[in-house]
Amino acid sequence: MQITGRRFLITGGASLVGSHLAEELLDQGAAEVVIYDNLSFGAESALAHLKGRKGLTIRRGDVMKLHDLIDAMQGVDGAFSFAAFMTLPMSRDPWTGLDVNIRGHQNLLEACRVAAAKKIIFASSSAAYGYGLQGTITEDTPFHTKGVPPAAVIYGATKIIGEQLCADYGAKYGLDWAVLRFSTVYGERQHYRAANALYIIEAYDRVAKGEPPVVYGDGAETKDFVYAGDVARACRMAMGADVTRETVNISGGKEITTKALAELVLRLTGSNLKVEHRDPASGGVRLTSAHAFHYDNGKAKRVLGWEPKVPIEEGVRRLIEWRKANPPA
Ligand SMILES: NC(=O)c1ccc[n+]([C@@H]2O[C@H](COP(=O)([O-])OP(=O)(O)OC[C@H]3O[C@@H](n4cnc5c(N)ncnc54)[C@H](O)[C@@H]3O)[C@@H](O)[C@H]2O)c1
Repeated sequence: MQITGRRFLITGGASLVGSHLAEELLDQGAAEVVIYDNLSFGAESALAHLKGRKGLTIRRGDVMKLHDLIDAMQGVDGAFSFAAFMTLPMSRDPWTGLDVNIRGHQNLLEACRVAAAKKIIFASSSAAYGYGLQGTITEDTPFHTKGVPPAAVIYGATKIIGEQLCADYGAKYGLDWAVLRFSTVYGERQHYRAANALYIIEAYDRVAKGEPPVVYGDGAETKDFVYAGDVARACRMAMGADVTRETVNISGGKEITTKALAELVLRLTGSNLKVEHRDPASGGVRLTSAHAFHYDNGKAKRVLGWEPKVPIEEGVRRLIEWRKANPPA
């Protein structure tokens, strides 16, 4: 589907990924981008950089209210399903988390059907593979749950259900869909809700206070980070491409250890502080990967023509610049 002149809706758009995607769609000539968010986690301030942009509509709404969603979807060509409880909010409130991640997403699919929208892009996650895997993770890798904290398994399972609901709507009603499984997303408008993303923002927030960044364990654990602007481009490309009924990994594709990440933050801030190592058990809900893994994004290149463009040094520099201008309350 062409992006220029079309209308799109993003549930849960007043946050990290949605704020980048709204900008990407407007830059590509979308006639309207409706942000549909109940602002339970997100905030209008996440869209402040788009203030005054023609075509941006912010609509406070709850994905649990099907009639409101159907109303918001009138005249919309394509929807992005982003509203979700990630691992940390899921661990605090699995009742609402299950409602939003499963029924809320199903409501959006139903609103797409009723409003005759053409396509939906679902924000899935590497959590759909579980944690603790080693080797190369491709779209065929099964869900691994052994030793994983319950909230992370529950979150990953809701993403698997969400993917299957897309497939069900595609099969029954002909709705086009694509599932994008993001690795850990970081960038401007970073929040504290995704367990793995904390490594960057926590490190910076501590360094800004003159405290050393903390690494749990020896810091040899690896992570895959993908810049939010690159993720937004992948979402826009998935909507714009003829591709349908595909599940695709969206990752940075280059592993980095948690220690190297903390050291990168120290280097970019010009700090003389040294990384502090702590007992892994003291870090709350952490998603440890005892083994090195590679989160393969080859299919994204083959199917969508997408590759990440922003290297981690540049992405972390942008995140830090944004955080300096937007210090924590
Ligand atoms: N951030 C990451 O590292 C990451 C990684 C993999 C996948 N994802 C997925 O990408 C999507 C976007 O991620 P994000 O980091 O921007 O998420 P986020 O948690 O910041 O945003 C979710 C948004 O959903 C909204 N929301 C919650 N309940 C709602 C409801 N009932 N009705 C309407 N809106 C509601 C919140 O207010 C928030 O703005 C999510 O689906 C997430 O699971 C994110």
